[in-house]
Amino acid sequence: MLQNRFLAVFFILFSIQIQGQEEVTYYKNIVPIFNENCLPCHRSNGYGPFSLDNYDDVAKRAQFVGYVTQQRIMPPWKANPEYTHFADEKILTEAQIKTIQDWIHQGMPKGKKRHAPEAPNFDANSRISGNPDLILKMKEPFLIEGKNEHIFIAYAIPYELEHDTFVKAIEFVPGNRQLVHHNSYQIFAVHPDVDLSQIKDYFVFSTDSVDAIDDEHDFSFFNMYGPKGEKPKEVFHNGWLPGASPQIYPEGTGFYLPKKGVLLMRNFHYSPTPIDEYDQSEFHLYFSEKPVERTIRFAAFKPTGIDYSEDHIIKAGTRDTFEMNIRLGGAVSVLFINPHMHYLGKTFLSYAITPQQDTIPLIDIPDWDFNWQEFYKFKKPVILPKGTIVYAKATFDNTMDNKQNPFFPPQDVYFERGSMTETEEMLRLVFLYLPYRKGDENLKL
Ligand code: HEC
Repeated sequence: MLQNRFLAVFFILFSIQIQGQEEVTYYKNIVPIFNENCLPCHRSNGYGPFSLDNYDDVAKRAQFVGYVTQQRIMPPWKANPEYTHFADEKILTEAQIKTIQDWIHQGMPKGKKRHAPEAPNFDANSRISGNPDLILKMKEPFLIEGKNEHIFIAYAIPYELEHDTFVKAIEFVPGNRQLVHHNSYQIFAVHPDVDLSQIKDYFVFSTDSVDAIDDEHDFSFFNMYGPKGEKPKEVFHNGWLPGASPQIYPEGTGFYLPKKGVLLMRNFHYSPTPIDEYDQSEFHLYFSEKPVERTIRFAAFKPTGIDYSEDHIIKAGTRDTFEMNIRLGGAVSVLFINPHMHYLGKTFLSYAITPQQDTIPLIDIPDWDFNWQEFYKFKKPVILPKGTIVYAKATFDNTMDNKQNPFFPPQDVYFERGSMTETEEMLRLVFLYLPYRKGDENLKL
């Protein structure tokens, strides 16, 4: 009797063992995880530094892949999922991480190709599968001179289509991933008589000031005014930061694209390089079959109440905290949120308090990384009634402990004086939003 019971226990343990050791193969178990979570960046010509779309490339880096997935360094995702969840969250489940570990421990068996799901179809250098309807590309490769200086340019890309249309998704594809530091852009409709062949390509900023953008100067420089001085009309405004994903808007939203216009990169910033390099960046636009009824809007917030007449300095060797609170003048449905700081940034927390005193968590970034600045897309629009206060609190580390500190030894860094280089720090919160409309609660992103 006793022996039987012992045998039964033994059997249970044994079968669990067998189950735990079920063979994990590349084609059957790894490919599905990688197709979804790694291939958007890791394939030939992709955003990542090497390809992970075939057995050999994965197997030869298996230890490294096992490490970065277990440590949750890859796929890159900086927002704390215990605070808020987002759509298209790039987070592996515990089970997926374990599958990768098991596969490595079992000696990376290949398995049978027929067990693999179909490979996603990505366009050459896009992170969205499927082909874009329109590519707006810089005319010539731009020479980034190797003078070890920050370079700021304004660059115009004119285009003409057969008819007006609507855009439901847009992706900025940096040509030089190491040097494109950020890009703020607008799309303008121009007067029908504007001669697009007269649109100039670019000019280099004389200053790196955030406030250097001047419509009058830029429109006349680029020859964007109509014959009677008709002003170009902005139809869209957005930005790109390192690591940001393509933006796919919910059905019925996006923006109207006039058949004749100019995409103007207003504040296109390259990091310093000691050797000459080139960049030829491009935008991929995906058209909507249905008219877009609501235009995605852009709003950028920065701290108020700071006395800019005094220089705010994050002293060398210290840590500092800055906060902001913004009162909303109207009700909005927030679709995307984008926190922004430079290299001294460490943590970023934002939430909103409605006039009814409800607290709405927005985003928590416990371990800021300049290279991964996402436009985080909410699962459902976050409705913020009129009078809501949006809070943000960010910490900065200007000590030697901060491995990202651009200065060694650390030096005093200005806070928000107007420059975009690493000699200054910034704190920005960007919303892509729609003015609130009844029923937005039920929109799915
Ligand atoms: C959003 C784009 C993106 C996704 C998705 C992504 N990676 Fe990466 N990966 C990168 C980039 C860019 C780098 C190089 C820069 C860096 O190390 O941050 C990188 C670096 C790596 C490295 C080298 C790390 C190092 O320290 O040099 C490994 C290994 C890696 N990725 C594996 C993966 C795996 C496995 C997945 C999926 C589970 C994945 N990545 C998903 C973009 C991505």
